[in-house]
Amino acid sequence: MQLLDKSSSNFLYQQVIDYVEKQEKKGVFQAGDKLPSLRKLSKQLDISVPTVKQAYIELERQGAIYARPQSGYYMKAKQVRTLLPMRDRWLHSSPAELQCRSLIEQVYAAIHLPNTVALGLSNPVNTHPPDKALSRLMKGVLSRVSEKSVSYGAVNGDSKLRLNIALRYQEQGVAVNYDDIIITNGAQEALSIALQCVASKGDVIAVESPCYFGQLELIESLGMKVVEVYTCTENGVCSKELEKVLKKHNVKACLFTTTVNNPLGSLMTNMERKELVELVEKYNIPLIEDEVYSELYFTEEKPKPAELYSKKGLVLTCSSFSKTAAPGYRIGWLVAGKYEEKAKGIKRAQSCSTAMLQQWTLSDYLMSGEYDKYLQVLRRKLQYNSERMRALITEQFPTEVCISEPKGGGVLWVRCRSHVDTEKLFHEAIENGVSFAPGIIFSPSGKYNNFMRISFGVQWSDEVVKAITTLGGIVKKYSQK
Ligand SMILES: Cc1ncc(COP(=O)(O)O)c(C=O)c1O
Repeated sequence: MQLLDKSSSNFLYQQVIDYVEKQEKKGVFQAGDKLPSLRKLSKQLDISVPTVKQAYIELERQGAIYARPQSGYYMKAKQVRTLLPMRDRWLHSSPAELQCRSLIEQVYAAIHLPNTVALGLSNPVNTHPPDKALSRLMKGVLSRVSEKSVSYGAVNGDSKLRLNIALRYQEQGVAVNYDDIIITNGAQEALSIALQCVASKGDVIAVESPCYFGQLELIESLGMKVVEVYTCTENGVCSKELEKVLKKHNVKACLFTTTVNNPLGSLMTNMERKELVELVEKYNIPLIEDEVYSELYFTEEKPKPAELYSKKGLVLTCSSFSKTAAPGYRIGWLVAGKYEEKAKGIKRAQSCSTAMLQQWTLSDYLMSGEYDKYLQVLRRKLQYNSERMRALITEQFPTEVCISEPKGGGVLWVRCRSHVDTEKLFHEAIENGVSFAPGIIFSPSGKYNNFMRISFGVQWSDEVVKAITTLGGIVKKYSQK
């Protein structure tokens, strides 16, 4: 059957575009789906590869599809109301303490509730768990370490794992030595040590707004206060806004997630990150950079670490394998810059060492090359899920709802009408077998009461579709009130 009309005056590449759009309308290509390769479609339509390429480039320019390097072209979600920056409407607030602890507890509890689709926690690995590869490697480790498997490890962790982590920084141009790295119990312990290195009880820490609720809880548990900095949905913290805050408040340190913010999914450009580091170092303020999502970028290139731009050693880098391999292993790390010795002392005092079996397993995982292969698949699956979820929410939620377009990570940030209280909605959603994270827990000043964070770190299934449909019904109900 002739799919294109070669005698028509309509350009062939335009006919390819029409063809793709028709297939989409028929439901053959859905959000997140991979389009046929250039060669395959050129054969199928009996036209040249450059003509198909021209059509794909035009579709990409129109925002209908996106390209993944060395992989191909993929469909984007359609008619999504994308969440835009709202600097004009953003209200500055003074240093404050956190108030919604019990709600955070309920968000955590909801992941273990029976018959509940858990979309409340950010667990990207859940999309494609590497459990089999890690179990195989752990068996290998057990067979060779004998009694060492139950003994204490070195305070700063296994040297081979540290070396493997250091090599990854060196590949990015950062001069990190394996001796500069301290292995921790997840990123959370790294953040805790970093905060204790640079600030004390009563001090003010600048955070992104919105930011990960675990950072807020941690700051509060250390008796510190937070001041929120306006954070753009696309590019993260804006240096100009940060400078205003630094001038106005006595900020002791900044804690930012510039390589994919949770919950916004924003990602600073390398240039913006460089400017940010230069700014904080100009004011002699330490920057604690939480990098847990830096491997889960949807952009062409991996973001450069903030550490690369530090001239005064004031950047403290915290990260972990929780979002990229195994959250249950609780293996993270800290590169503490000029605070290294103090950080080692705090680690020793606080938890002495970190589980060795998991460190050895991850070290083998990195060395075997399997980790990097896994990350490639994980990023692709997450970006697919992100588009599917954006399309589904657009379909099932009220039309006025706006959705973030994440540049990485595993969550969507969704804004409902201003009167919708997503905390109330959360309780009704739980009763109906679906959980999410209510917006209020991402800010100490209650800025995001009408927002919700929905995780797309899931294995896509009919159950997930049903859960989003149920959630959409509840949001519609609350929007009418
Ligand atoms: C931004 C951010 N930082 C830190 C953490 C905690 O990481 P870990 O599980 O390695 O302690 C999380 C977990 O959700 C996170 O989203």
